[in-house]
Amino acid sequence: MILAALGLLAGLWAGLIRLGWQLPPLLLRLPAQHGPLMVSGFLGTLISLERAVALSQNQGGGRRIYYLSPLLAGLGALALFFVLPTAVPRGLSTLGALGLVLIFGVIYSLQPTTDHAVMGVGALLWLVGNGLWLAGRPIFRVVPWWAGFLILTIAGERLELGRVLPHKRITRHAFLAVTAVFLAGLLLSLVAFDSGVRLAGLGLIALGVWLLRYDIARRTMRQKGLTRFIAACLLPGYVWLMVGGLFWLGYGGQYVAGPVYDALLHTLFLGFVFSMIFGHAPVIVPAVLGVQVPYTPIFYLHLGLLHLSLLLRVGGDWLLWLPLRRWGGLLNEVAVLLFLLVTAVAVRRGKKNEKLGK
Ligand code: HEM
Repeated sequence: MILAALGLLAGLWAGLIRLGWQLPPLLLRLPAQHGPLMVSGFLGTLISLERAVALSQNQGGGRRIYYLSPLLAGLGALALFFVLPTAVPRGLSTLGALGLVLIFGVIYSLQPTTDHAVMGVGALLWLVGNGLWLAGRPIFRVVPWWAGFLILTIAGERLELGRVLPHKRITRHAFLAVTAVFLAGLLLSLVAFDSGVRLAGLGLIALGVWLLRYDIARRTMRQKGLTRFIAACLLPGYVWLMVGGLFWLGYGGQYVAGPVYDALLHTLFLGFVFSMIFGHAPVIVPAVLGVQVPYTPIFYLHLGLLHLSLLLRVGGDWLLWLPLRRWGGLLNEVAVLLFLLVTAVAVRRGKKNEKLGK
């Protein structure tokens, strides 16, 4: 957890510098490491940790070997802080991803379900992405694989949490078909980067449509409290997934830095991934840390800020209006930090409630 937090904070700092805010780089290499810190250092470590906790609890007695995956991914992020051969951080992150693939192998052998298969493929994409990074491919070539890792992990979790309506066979086949289009795009990107990214974008749009149509969120939006809040995180997340897919389809691999590249990535990483994180945290934090996160309407504050600030940022990217982009990005970070603060306060309240026996 500490290594993941370090990855997040360093990644956020580096993100501000990449946006053009005049801040001390702390470490000269840091700004260039923003992507790896966020994807592998923060989210990769956290996702592996979540799975390691679930699996070791499931196997009784808590098998510690599973914790090697998040540990290696976290150490990979830590290694980015030091002047070491690039193979060290990249190798550690690759081993962490390999660990997650093996964890899903065990999970799938215990429960061979579609959701576990989808998440296992997600882990495989992380492994391929990290392998390409280790082999020296530039980050813009690796990014589609990293995005795939996060997107398939989340899609699988939606299936796993049983929040997607029980479907007919044809609907399940439609899900597999859109996932296959996305995966075909990634594979194609290895030999024809531009066309591959466009095809993957088509898959993302279709996946967004599928999730909007079949996730139960559209119905639960009419309920109250936490259930409604989760739906309010999911629905705009699916819209951002489609917007990101449109950017991928429209621009392909033409932009490898700058405002369009920024929009290509962060519609997905912030609009989709972080919105999902905001929605799942009140459910997943209790499972991983064993502490309650009681719902409060204040949760809407960081959610609203995330989406509004992302609109500003992507608007700034689109119009090439750099101050708008810079302020939007800064407010994105305020939303993420506010989320951490509000969640920490809710956890404290949950602990107090437990003590009082509420
Ligand atoms: C929270 C606010 C964030 C800010 C302010 C931010 C900022 C940036 C900036 C300015 C760039 C460079 C774009 C360009 O070339 O002009 C970038 C790239 C990137 N960002 Fe973010 N970002 C944020 C969140 C995230 C998140 C949550 C993720 C992943 C989960 C992420 C992953 C990436 C990746 C993979 C790249 C490509 C890096 C590269 O090509 O070197 N970012 N980000």
